[in-house]
Amino acid sequence: MSTQNTAPVTSTTSPVAEGAATEGATQTAVAAGRIQQVRRYLMCRPEHFTVSYTINPWMVPANPTDTALAVRQWQALYDTYIGLGHEVHLIDPIEGLPDMVYTANGGFVIDNVAYGAKFRFQERVPEGPAFMDWFRANGYDVAEPVEVNEGEGDFLLVGETILAGTGFRSTGDSHRELADVFGKEVVSLNLVDPRFYHLDTAISVLDPVEGPGGVEKANIAYLEHAFDERSQAILAERYPDAIHVADADGAVFGLNSASDGRNVIISPRAKGFEAQLRERGYNPVLVDLSELLLGGGGIKCCTLELRR
Ligand code: ARG
Repeated sequence: MSTQNTAPVTSTTSPVAEGAATEGATQTAVAAGRIQQVRRYLMCRPEHFTVSYTINPWMVPANPTDTALAVRQWQALYDTYIGLGHEVHLIDPIEGLPDMVYTANGGFVIDNVAYGAKFRFQERVPEGPAFMDWFRANGYDVAEPVEVNEGEGDFLLVGETILAGTGFRSTGDSHRELADVFGKEVVSLNLVDPRFYHLDTAISVLDPVEGPGGVEKANIAYLEHAFDERSQAILAERYPDAIHVADADGAVFGLNSASDGRNVIISPRAKGFEAQLRERGYNPVLVDLSELLLGGGGIKCCTLELRR
């Protein structure tokens, strides 16, 4: 097993001292009350990455892919997380499963319980048991899925609520199963644009956990027209302070990002979103995963949060 950084983290929610942010950005962040929280992530080195089938509109097998470049770009993301003080675990890549790099789809983990994934498309089905094996071997309680679901690609924890996407991959029935497994409120949202087929391509969770003093700071950024009207109304009502991103930023997978409450790792192409984040006192950190975008995935897709 290639798990790294196995030293225990005392708390995944404790604020940490100033990290890799620049002096200026740090001051802005502090002024805006942005507090970084240490995360534990699961990633998978894209040693077998290629595009050999089409299960989303971004995937064109005729276009060449460069596996070595994919690995270098992925490494930059890995190094960025480590540099910011996060803990990253690794699952071994399996030959013949080119999409395994998108670990966000491998499950959904809260409080040491891992709800396993059951993939929509045959090409990715074997990934489900592979991730469940990893969870078991690493001490997680696994809830085996009955319903089709693609893990954190479609499920996002915002405060105490789980936002759950459906329309392309995870089914509505999986949302019920999810609520049973975790005993939390699950809010179903309908995705309508095939470019944004997973929830994590249309919503970015900026402040997923409680701030100091138990202040609920949960906030999100999202692309409105990736959702049907009913879902847009739900989001508008629940997150009046949300950042609404432009289509241009959504279309470069700007929302497929990872936030630790202060640093938000985003695509360098999402210029508008970058400016919006700075205005709000976040510290955007730019990491280019252009090669992995050929498979229809970005930063968040390559990152599964391990909460325990
Ligand atoms: N090629 C993969 C698929 O279509 C990309 C998955 C992207 N993952 C994500 N969390 N959005 O399934």
